[in-house]
Amino acid sequence: MTQLISRMIGTGSYLPARKMTNDEMSEIVETSDAWITERTGIKTRYIAAEGELTSDIAAKAAQHAMDRAGVIADDIDLIIVATTTPDKTFPATATSVQAKLGVDRGAAFDIQAVCSGFVFALSTADNFLKAGQFTTALVIGAETFTRILDWTDRGTCVLFGDGGGAVVLRAEQGEAGQEGLIGHHIRSDGRKSDMLHVDGGVSSTGTVGHVRMNGPQVFKHAVSNITSAVRHVVAASSYEVEDIDWFVPHQANQRILDGVAKKLKIDETKVVSTVSQHGNTSAASIPLALDTAIRDGRINSGQLVLIEAMGGGFTWGASLFRV
Ligand code: ACO
Repeated sequence: MTQLISRMIGTGSYLPARKMTNDEMSEIVETSDAWITERTGIKTRYIAAEGELTSDIAAKAAQHAMDRAGVIADDIDLIIVATTTPDKTFPATATSVQAKLGVDRGAAFDIQAVCSGFVFALSTADNFLKAGQFTTALVIGAETFTRILDWTDRGTCVLFGDGGGAVVLRAEQGEAGQEGLIGHHIRSDGRKSDMLHVDGGVSSTGTVGHVRMNGPQVFKHAVSNITSAVRHVVAASSYEVEDIDWFVPHQANQRILDGVAKKLKIDETKVVSTVSQHGNTSAASIPLALDTAIRDGRINSGQLVLIEAMGGGFTWGASLFRV
């Protein structure tokens, strides 16, 4: 029996023009290409141009996804932007994206779950579409994350970059649990917020603040939380981990990607990694990696894809879907 499901009908991404290498980073803080490569796998990251906003990046990624999906602005009735680096405190960046794309119907709002934002946004949009409240959704992860970095802290500034990725979802009749978006598992634990946070905010300091992180602790929690989320989402489906065609993790650090894949016994040939080129683009990293692997022909229509992420909060989660 068929029912209303969400189908992913297009993906897109956008990177700012300016690419920054590890050697350039070593001119800013005491670090080296060798250290960054060995500890993280990162070689380059992209930096938004002066005046280039998160909404500009999001709208460009979204337009690519809409072109790929064959939809126009009039078709879109839901826009969710996952971001930690909004244009302004308010209005939501999603409403700026809505205006930039020429969408004048439906609803647009932001989701804040830091690096897990895309998984949270995808799960939210899926529930709206399955409930019949909206029909065609843009789910976007976009960041100008380098604007909240402390460029004197070598423990964090070498890790992150800017960029955006987007998917178009459409509500259609289909076989639930077999086609389109299959399942999600999202979690949060506010007790661990001091391990990865920003030391400023509207109601606390009245400033934007900078990223602060206990790297080794985040690393430890990332591997175990992500593994647990993946096990939950797979257990709730009719699939096994071996059935997954592609694993598209949040691109935080190659060592976290390898650790999770090893724990879950996912063959490295199924893992999409873009962390060497993009660095950690927070909420943008999964849709950016997904679009990269679709465009270069690795991920094909109908294949089973697993995504996962963990971020500040802590927040973490995983989703399973067919593209
Ligand atoms: N260049 C050179 N040396 C550095 C740098 C750098 N960029 N950064 C830190 N160091 C030094 C430290 O000062 C320390 O020196 P010391 O021994 O003289 O005190 C030494 O390297 C080791 O520091 P650690 O923090 O213990 O290094 P570690 O091996 O844990 O690597 C890293 C640090 C890469 C941050 C690691 O902890 C990590 O990847 N953690 C996960 C963090 C992450 O990915 N966060 C992203 C957001 S959350 C998410 O997306 C999952």
